Amino acid sequence: MPKVTFTHSSGQDETEIEEGKTLLDAAQKCGAPMEFACGGNGFCTTCKCKVKKGAENLEPRTDREECMGLDEDDERLGCQAVVHGDVEVELDD
Ligand code: FES
Repeated sequence: MPKVTFTHSSGQDETEIEEGKTLLDAAQKCGAPMEFACGGNGFCTTCKCKVKKGAENLEPRTDREECMGLDEDDERLGCQAVVHGDVEVELDD
């Protein structure tokens, strides 16, 4: 199973998750501090994060993400980014 690692101000959380789940699913599984004010529907950007490694192991940005004004190439919405392999993600918290 793909391994997802989150780094944030309180340290690091890591989990394995089924392929096809999202970064938000992974964060909830391991207790990483990823917010999800809209309930994971791609409307709030509180789940925004930066992919540090393994961007190629995520599905490409969705139309929803393109509409939400992500600035940099490594930014993703955690609720929209589907995982297919190992990924390392940084959270602003
Ligand atoms: S949880 Fe709202 S955009 Fe991802």
